[in-house]
Amino acid sequence: MKIVYSYSNKTELGLGSRVGLVPTMGALHDGHLSLVKKIRSHVDSVVLSIFINPLQFNSKSDLEKYPRTLAADQQMAESAGVDLLWVPTESEIYQADTPVIEPPSVGYSYEGLYRPKHFRGVLTVVNRLFNIVQPQVAIFGEKDFQQLFLIENMVKKLNLPISILAGETMRDSSGLALSSRNSQLHDQKKVSIFSDLISDLNLSDLDVSSRLKYARERLSKIFTLEYCELIDSLTFQPIGQNFKGDARLIFAGYAQGVRLIDNGLVRFQ
Ligand code: PAF
Repeated sequence: MKIVYSYSNKTELGLGSRVGLVPTMGALHDGHLSLVKKIRSHVDSVVLSIFINPLQFNSKSDLEKYPRTLAADQQMAESAGVDLLWVPTESEIYQADTPVIEPPSVGYSYEGLYRPKHFRGVLTVVNRLFNIVQPQVAIFGEKDFQQLFLIENMVKKLNLPISILAGETMRDSSGLALSSRNSQLHDQKKVSIFSDLISDLNLSDLDVSSRLKYARERLSKIFTLEYCELIDSLTFQPIGQNFKGDARLIFAGYAQGVRLIDNGLVRFQ
């Protein structure tokens, strides 16, 4: 595996004609490795970027606290079969004329309500990473479901010739979604209720508002909730009482001093 701190072009970097990009902020775990595995079968070469994007953090202290584990990341990327690890500098990403990408109004609800500049920062950096690498395919985890929605929306709006793949959320044996924050939890088992909740919601024949009420009550026993909503994955708007089809339960909350987010598919027939 090659590692570069500045990106030239795919020929100079010895990459094949179809390039897949896995954008990350490092602190790699098995969830990231599953993204590498999935994108590999769609492309000739896989580029994994590690850039801790200052624009998407709410505060300086959050940015400073973010784990920096480059040596371990390098080993993990190599073992996952990444062809090129790209660790750009801030000056390569942010130049005077780097376009700022403003999210649509959905970007200011849910995650965006609690982290108002977050999605502007995410879309701006992702668009810039796309401009530099010009990948044919890129992949993002479903764990950050709103981020995935907004990136797909940006690609459509800007007519970028890039296929976006979604990587399924990886969970540990207790059902907890893998995240770089999990190590901060002192009792991981206690907060691992989300995947059981999603199974129960899918087995239930309760209507929309009753299932939502049940989900909120169950999550509130463990978490201080920021939001918990059933949304239509196609519009990211809350579903109505007569909704039929695939909805998503999205949630964010605090437990043990750690902020967790998760989401799952809930079918209404
Ligand atoms: O999901 C992340 O790790 C980041 O938001 C991303 C997509 C790499 C942009 O900085």
